[in-house]
Parts: sequence; C-alpha cells; structure tokens
Amino acid sequence: MKAAVLTKLGAPLAWQDVTPPAIGTGEVLVDVHSAPILSYANEVFSGARRYLIPTPVIPGCGAIGKVREVGPDATKLKVGDWVFCDPTVRSRDDALMPDITLQGWSARGEGGQMLQRYFRDGTFGEQVRVPTENAVAIGQIDPANASQWCALNTLLIAYGGLLKMNLQAGECLLVSGATGNFGSATIITALAMGARSVIAAGRNQAVLDDLKGRFGNRLVPVKLTGDSERDTDTIKKSVAWPIDAVLDFLPPSVEAAVARAAIMAVRPYGRAVLMGGVGMLGGDDLALPYPWIMRNNISIHGQWMYDSAAVTGMVRLVHSGLLDLEQFAVTEFSPQDVNEAVAHAASNAGPFKLTALKIK
Ligand SMILES: NC(=O)c1ccc[n+]([C@@H]2O[C@H](COP(=O)([O-])OP(=O)(O)OC[C@H]3O[C@@H](n4cnc5c(N)ncnc54)[C@H](OP(=O)(O)O)[C@@H]3O)[C@@H](O)[C@H]2O)c1
Repeated sequence: MKAAVLTKLGAPLAWQDVTPPAIGTGEVLVDVHSAPILSYANEVFSGARRYLIPTPVIPGCGAIGKVREVGPDATKLKVGDWVFCDPTVRSRDDALMPDITLQGWSARGEGGQMLQRYFRDGTFGEQVRVPTENAVAIGQIDPANASQWCALNTLLIAYGGLLKMNLQAGECLLVSGATGNFGSATIITALAMGARSVIAAGRNQAVLDDLKGRFGNRLVPVKLTGDSERDTDTIKKSVAWPIDAVLDFLPPSVEAAVARAAIMAVRPYGRAVLMGGVGMLGGDDLALPYPWIMRNNISIHGQWMYDSAAVTGMVRLVHSGLLDLEQFAVTEFSPQDVNEAVAHAASNAGPFKLTALKIK
C-alpha cells in the first residue's frame, strides 16, 4: 500500500510504498477514505511543538474509512462499515487510569509511549490498523461527504468537555477562546445539545460577527478588553440569566488572568472545564481564589480528549440533523500533495475550516 511517511522531524512527507499493516485479535483494519489535517500539523512534523512522535512514522490523527478486516473478537463491526478512526488509544490493562496515546500524533508519559510503540502509525495511508474499540461505526454516509465527516475529529474534543460538565438542554454556557478552532466547535456542539444560550468570549470582532451570523439569537458575542474585572462583569451582564458552565479552550500563549476572568463569571454551584493550554509554556498559575470556589460550590474539571462513547453520541447529533456538518468548509487534497495540504491547513486555520487528505 501507499502512505505518507515522515522519515525524521523537519523532513517533508513522502507518499511512498510501505508494508501494509496486519491485524490480530482486538484489532481492525480500515481502508482510509479521508483524513483530517490539523492546522498545527506543520509544527508537529517540524518538531516545533515538541510532541512525542517517533520517526519514521506514518502520521495522521483520526480518519473516516471503511472496515477492511475485523479481528476474531469483533461482535458488531462488519467489513464495509463506515467508521470514524478514533485516534485516542487507551491501554486496556488499567480501566481506572488508562495510558493514552494519540495514534499517529503524540503520546502522554511513559505508558503512552509504550502504547505508541505498537499503535504508532496513523491515518495518512491507504490502510490503518486500530484497536477494535477505536473503529467506531458512524452508519451510512454519502462517500462524497467522507471529508466533511472528518470534522468529527475537532467536534469530539469539544463534546468531551461538554459531556464532562454534563451540559443540560436549556443551560447557558460560556466559551472562553470561542473564536478558535475548538472554541467554535464547542459553540456548534453546545447549541446542538440544546443550550439556551452560548456566550462567545473573544477579541476578534470579525469572527464574533461571523459566529453571530451563523447561529443567531442563541449566540451571545462578548468582545474582551483584556481588563479582567471589566471582562468578567461584561460577560455576566451579556445575558439576563446566570451562566451555568464555562468551557476554556485558551492556548498556551494566553495569560492565566484571561482564563480566570471567564471562569469567575460562572454562577454559584456552576461548573468549569479546562481544556486549553494555559500555563503549558510557563507563565502565572491560574490561581482561582480558594474561598470563591468553596463558598460558591464551584466544580472545576480538566479534560483531555473524550470518552469512547462520545463518538456514538456525536454521530447521533449529526444524523438527527441537530448538528450540521455543512457549517465546515472543506478543502481536499490528493495524498501525493500531502505537503501542500499541510501548508494549506496551517495558513487556513480558524473556525469551521477543514483541510483533508482524500485518500480513496
Ligand atoms: N484538552 C484537549 O483534549 C485538547 C485537544 C486539542 C487541543 N487542545 C488545546 O486547545 C487550545 C486551543 O486550540 P485551538 O486550535 O482552538 O486554538 P486557536 O484556534 O488558535 O484559538 C485560540 C483562541 O484563543 C483566543 N485568544 C488568544 N489570545 C488571547 C488573549 N490574549 N485573550 C483572549 N483570547 C485570546 C483566540 O481569540 P482571538 O480571536 O481573540 O484571538 C482564539 O479564540 C490549545 O491549547 C490546544 O492545545 C486541547
């Protein structure tokens, strides 16, 4: 088969012949139809992000494809089923604290790297081997829409945070970092789940206007000033009801005070879920006031990725028509042009933009 190989960090990808993977028990072989290219793939492949990705490797994080072969222990999946290849691979020998590797992308800690040695290659190839539970059936789709379905990759991460906070229909959600990739995915997902209103906090007026144009009255844009106290106050006053929950997706470049200003807009008994990168490159601690958390019965959670059942829940939102994948503008590239595709993804980042490698 053919695949895009990264021989070493900083080298261009090469679409070349490789040995096809073979599967055993507990694994599924998938024919990759379309694989998303994340906007920061160039930084992962150059080494700038310092992700734990060994080389040589077939990179690629997530895909839409069809089952080519199942292992002897698969009870439901059949050859020919459309599936989402979930990159979040978990170790199976500790249900309480599984190690995680993002197949074809990165790993967390020593255990994640052990897992990565086996589930190493990702989705930028004609076939990919995944653990059985990571080939999640998505039902019948139009093959022409396989790349559009790659939006699941981004949407699922947002959905993971919303499930963590147990967002209920009718609730009011504040999204911090709302104008970014994952923030905007949070907005569309929360609205699909029935949020009464979603407050989009950001600095970029053009993007805030675009979000308002897409989602109408249930979307409440708030332009941030950088003055924490003023921003918290403006956020609280942007709706006539309490803010039930906050999801933060701010990147590492942002000062902790910006995240704090958003989190502290939540109502007493409210919830905050932290999913961004604040503090990962240093800087001040988040330093939320202990008495404020305690006296107000605030719940604060961290969330990396999503639980495996989330994929099925997200697929239901799409098939029911509650979440419209047409919101995503997709640009497809043939696999021979993988390097152009990676460059395109980097220069076309932003809400509801998707670059995909159309492999089949
Ligand atoms: N937990 C997980 O499972 C998970 C998974 C994937 C990614 N992530 C993390 O999610 C984070 C966001 O990624 P992304 O791709 O969505 O980033 P992005 O597209 O670059 O978006 C960044 C957001 O931060 C806002 N922002 C930047 N500087 C700001 C400032 N000084 N004040 C206020 N807002 C500011 C931007 O708004 P403006 O319009 O104002 O610039 C934008 O909304 C990253 O740290 C990434 O590593 C987490």
